[in-house]
This record gives sequence, C-alpha cells and structure tokens, in this order.
Amino acid sequence: QQPPDLLTVMATSIVDDTPVSGTLLLLLLLCILLITTLCLANASHIPGPFFWAGLGPILSYSRFIWSGIGTACNYYNKRYGSMVRVWINGEETLILSKSSAVYHVLKSAHYIARFASKQGLQCIGMDGRGIIFNSDIPLWKKVRTYFAKALTGPGLQRTVGICVSATDRHLERLQEMTDPTGHVDVLNLLRCIVVDISNKLFLRVPLNGQKNVLTMTVILFRRLVSSKELQDVMESLIETKRRIISESETLDDDLDFTSELIFAQNHGELSADDVRQCVLEMVIAAPDTLSISLFFMLMLLKQNPEMEIRIVEEISTLIDKYLTVVDFQNFRVLESFINESMRFHPVVDFTMRKALEDDVIDGTKISKGTNIILNIGLMHKTEFFPKPNEFSLENFDKTVPSRFFQPFGCGPRSCVGKHIAMMMMKAVLVTLLSRYSVCPRHGNTLSSIRQTNNLSQQPVEDEQSLAMRFIPRQMTTT
Ligand code: HEM
Repeated sequence: QQPPDLLTVMATSIVDDTPVSGTLLLLLLLCILLITTLCLANASHIPGPFFWAGLGPILSYSRFIWSGIGTACNYYNKRYGSMVRVWINGEETLILSKSSAVYHVLKSAHYIARFASKQGLQCIGMDGRGIIFNSDIPLWKKVRTYFAKALTGPGLQRTVGICVSATDRHLERLQEMTDPTGHVDVLNLLRCIVVDISNKLFLRVPLNGQKNVLTMTVILFRRLVSSKELQDVMESLIETKRRIISESETLDDDLDFTSELIFAQNHGELSADDVRQCVLEMVIAAPDTLSISLFFMLMLLKQNPEMEIRIVEEISTLIDKYLTVVDFQNFRVLESFINESMRFHPVVDFTMRKALEDDVIDGTKISKGTNIILNIGLMHKTEFFPKPNEFSLENFDKTVPSRFFQPFGCGPRSCVGKHIAMMMMKAVLVTLLSRYSVCPRHGNTLSSIRQTNNLSQQPVEDEQSLAMRFIPRQMTTT
C-alpha cells in the first residue's frame, strides 16, 4: 500500500478532528495554488520583481509614487540589471539602461509614442494635445513641424543676440533681486532670463502689464497646478497676440511660432486648444529644463574652481572688447563643461516611450503596446566614460560616439529644441560669467541641497539652497 502523501495526511487528520479548520486549511491550500499559478502565468522572461498575485505591481507602483520615477528607475536597474520589467499603474513597463538597447529604441520609428496616465495627462491638458506627451501620432507629426521650424533656421540664428541682451538686462537689475544679506535666488533669476528669451523668440507679446505672468506659468506648470489656471493665463496671452496680428499692417517675413500656429488655426489645420497647448509647451520647455540645468552648472562650477579658470580664460580669448561673441563653435572648454554637467547631474535623466509594433531589443522579444522607460542618466554613468562617477572634463577629452551620450535623445522623437538649447546655455553662461563670479550660500553643494527626481531632477525650492552671491568680475579681453 502506498503511503499517503503529506497533503492528504494533513488534510484528512485535521478534517477528521475538526471539520471547520479542515475547510479553512483546504481554502488556504487552494489560495497557495492560485497564487502559484498566477505567479507562473505572469512570470516574465525579463528580470524584475515577482508578481506575487498582484502584490508585486502594487509594491513597484508604490515605489514609483513614493521615491519619484527617476529614483525608482535607478533602483530597479541597479537591482535587476540593464533590462528590467516593473509595473506602473498595473501596466508592464520595461526600464532600459544599456546603450545598445536605448539607442535602438531612440532611433526606431516603432517607438515614437509615449506612455503616461491618461487621467494625469487629461488633468494638465496634454492628452492627445501639444507635443511633449502627445501620442496621437498624425497630430504629433503635424505640430512637430511647427516646433522644428521655430527651433532651427532663422529662429536659431536670432537666439544668441536675444539671449545675450536678455541676460544683460536682468543682470543690470540684479540689485532688485538681491536680498538684505547680499544673496540672489539664482533659480528665479535664471527663470526670468529664460522666460524673457522664450517670449522674445516664440510669443513676442509685451508683458508690461503682466509682469512675471509667464514666470508664474512656468512655476504653476512645475507644480502641476490645475490646467484651468494655466490655460487661462495662456489663453489671455494668445488673445493679446491675436489682437497684435490683426492690428498690424504688415506681416514679418519670419513669422514667430505663435503667429504660425494662429494662422494654421485660421486655415482650419489646428484647433484653438491645439494652439494653446503648443504655445504653453513651447514656453515652458526652455525655462523648465534650461534654467535648472544652468543652476546645476553654476553650482558645479563653484565646486570645481580650476574649471572656472579655464572657462573664463576661454571666454576672454573668444569675446571681443565689446563683450560680443564672435563664434560659439569655438567654445570647446565651455562645451565640454556643459556636456559633462548634463552627463553628471542631468535635469532630464529618462524618457518614456511606447512600442507601436512587436520588436526585438538586444535579443529580447518586445510586444506591441509595451511601455518603455529609457534610463539615459544611468546609461551615462555605466558605459564608455573614463571617469563615470566623477565630474571631470576628461570624460569629454575624446570624441564621444553618439550612442553613449544622449542628453536630448535622438531619432524621430528626440528633443526638438536640442540645438537651440545648447546655443542658449552657451550664450547665457558666457554673458553671466564674463560679468560675475557666483558663489553659493555658505557650504551649499549639489550633494548637500535637497533635490527631487520625479519627472525631472530639480532642487527643492527653499531660499537656502538657491541663494548665491554675485561678485563682479573684471574681464580682460585679448
Ligand atoms: C538642457 C536643456 C534640455 C534638455 C536636457 C532636454 C531634454 C529633452 C529630452 C531628453 C527629451 C525627450 C526626448 C526623447 O524622448 O527622446 C526632450 C523632449 C522635448 N524637448 Fe527638450 N530638452 C532641453 C531643452 C529644450 C528646449 C530649450 C526646448 C524648446 C524650446 C525643448 C523642447 C522639447 C520638446 C518640445 C520635446 C518633446 C519632443 C517630442 O515629443 O516630439 N527642450 N527634451
């Protein structure tokens, strides 16, 4: 006779003694069976946390909410490897940090859509609207041509002059922004400069009566305040623009971005909502990324005085006695410094995509509809660079192959403002550093100030962290 197996023994002995606890045990066993089956059914061939009957997705989603997307991505890639499967909002999501996989996704037309919570996007007016999170592909393609036109060609050429004069203008009024202890909220200053530049380039609406209204828009957007408030601000600015256009007798040869969109609306190509959302995104794109990048750069510069000396020397040899820039192409040290800052302490360290077709990435099958996060920030610290965890210009001594350095992404859905962004950063830094040396409040460094890393990396906006003194510099030109 076969000995009874353990399960039968446990079940029968308890069932014989107490019918109620026997039933409970049976239920428990059934539950274990169900959990195991569910786990097996959801077992992915890609490494990542266990499903555990739905507990895994809840835990991984909580980590994203609790620590921010950027921080959670770094945690999962470090724990499970360069291709990891997690769940965000119940949906399977891959996080990729290896350059071969990241580059494949960036270059491919299969990944030109983004993913995000529909409700979240609806709340900020970005669902099927604007450009940044628009996954209505035909509409996205149409609006992207307007962005590309404004951010390249004549728009790009005008940029240097506008950046230099906007920076100068704000520096001349530095006293108004200086507190009684002699410090300036440098992020606020940089935001005002970049908002001014964005208005001059893309909107061209006089802001006399609405001083700081655009800066407020940027701050409101950062805090994801109700879209109603934002849309009202934007609507009133676009209304002013419509009035200016209808009252002007002649049209400029080079129409600005907002005028082009208004004409497209007049011709029935775009709706009023499309126009408002596109202008809003254009106006927030630069202040949101650039002013914070420049803030990080000023902090890093002070922590690396030998770099500051090299940059200032370069500026003094390349600008003429009127402090006008001859050619930005030649600022090699400054360019390496900007690149190294974006590598070492980026504002945007990941980007989100959705697979529109079945595909294979680095030998792994990817199903249509899979959500993908490209962890570019981690990629920059794990491959190619000779001193990946140090802030060093040596990292850019040699030409870096593009697949290893992608601060703006590349391919069809890359940052459409990447060329203008480099130009703006160079122009603002050269103008500022040729007039001032900045000094963060006593003891503040990038690692000591509080920061968050949700949709992007940014300082927590308290007075202490953002305050810097501006010390006038005597620039000698050669
Ligand atoms: C330091 C400055 C900047 C950084 C680091 C940055 C980085 C990025 C990154 C990583 C993306 C996502 C790319 C991808 O998914 O492959 C992006 C998208 C975008 N950026 Fe930038 N950006 C910067 C400045 C700007 C500026 C100045 C503008 C415009 C004035 C701009 C406009 C945009 C737009 C419109 C998109 C969405 C493109 C699309 O989805 O088609 N960015 N940026």
